[in-house]
Amino acid sequence: MFEAVPLSPPDSIFGLIEQFKKDVNPDKINLSVGVYQDESGTTPVMQCVRKAEQKLLDSAGNKNYLPIDGPPSYNESIGRLVLGDRLFDHDSVHCVAAQTPGGTVSLRIAGETLKRVFNVDTIWMSNPTWVNHPQIYGAVGLNVEQYDYLDENRTGLDFERLIDSLGQAGPGQAVLFHTVCHNPTGVDPSVEQWKQLGELIKELRLLPVFDFAYQGFGESLDADAFPIRHFVETGGEAIVCNSFSKNFGLYAERVGGIASVSHDADSAAAMLSQIKLTIRTIYSNPPLHGGAIVDTILHDAELRQIWQTELTEIRERILELRTNFVDAMQSRVPHKDFQYINRQRGMFSYSGLTPDQVARLKEEYSIYILGSGRINVAGINSQNLNRLCDAIASVV
Ligand code: LMR
Repeated sequence: MFEAVPLSPPDSIFGLIEQFKKDVNPDKINLSVGVYQDESGTTPVMQCVRKAEQKLLDSAGNKNYLPIDGPPSYNESIGRLVLGDRLFDHDSVHCVAAQTPGGTVSLRIAGETLKRVFNVDTIWMSNPTWVNHPQIYGAVGLNVEQYDYLDENRTGLDFERLIDSLGQAGPGQAVLFHTVCHNPTGVDPSVEQWKQLGELIKELRLLPVFDFAYQGFGESLDADAFPIRHFVETGGEAIVCNSFSKNFGLYAERVGGIASVSHDADSAAAMLSQIKLTIRTIYSNPPLHGGAIVDTILHDAELRQIWQTELTEIRERILELRTNFVDAMQSRVPHKDFQYINRQRGMFSYSGLTPDQVARLKEEYSIYILGSGRINVAGINSQNLNRLCDAIASVV
């Protein structure tokens, strides 16, 4: 029977990492997967995480099942991080959450719940979007439609086209937003544009899903949550899928959450019951370790402070890398304007490199970039900057 199984192509992100690992060139550069790397090119375990793990090791603990939705303290932390204390504690805001194994599963749980409970048939997402978004919702059985996102140069936002194309969505359909640090482009709407988008969602009666994988990588933990907080404050209901892979550096622990925000206790309880039902049929209940690390950090004033300081350092270092990259490219290719890279935020930049140029970078220089031209800025360091920029300058 298995002889007839067709071969599936390698994943466009993780497949590239496999190729990178096999590459014997000692000067190879990996700017593919969205993982933060420090100056030495390694992905550090954050100090707050090491300290929390030590604390967990020293405590009695057990390996019993967690509740289907994970521990209540963890779920409250998700709500407080996403909404901020003021909104979370507001009488008219009811936030329920569940721990999920990473952001991917959270997005999948959202999709399964939208289809089963709300009978949603279509979800709208930006063009371009994270490569896994269409796959996840296609696997759920939803139709995927895309709203326009980028301008002609593919380096900034075309908000009018975004509004026009999303305007074709019908009532009861879902819409997916990157709350901050859009993946793959690094291009985000402004505060004013988010306000307009919030109005449009309500006017069109769409069900919004906010993918929140980069809280703290844009401007700050609070500022990055503006799109969700504003939408909720102006009466909106939303599903939020968050990940702690990036802002706690817990990639391999698979830790994140799904939150539902509504305005009365009954709908909140109903939403949680449905999310739990979806979870029970997929992974039953979440794994312990990653969530326990996050929970420990967020409930210990000292560890939380260390975490915030480390996160700020990461964000500021990426901004510096952007500036260094732009300056280095500008001096090599003076006729081209690279300033757009300084305007983009988060780990990624849409470089404008064509698939041919990306292929040449890999074949001739062992530099690994996604076929779309997405660069993981957080993979640049002072050791590889000049080699990278020389190589890019030679192919553009
Ligand atoms: C990425 O976009 O590179 C990361 O979010 C990793 C992944 O799962 O694709």
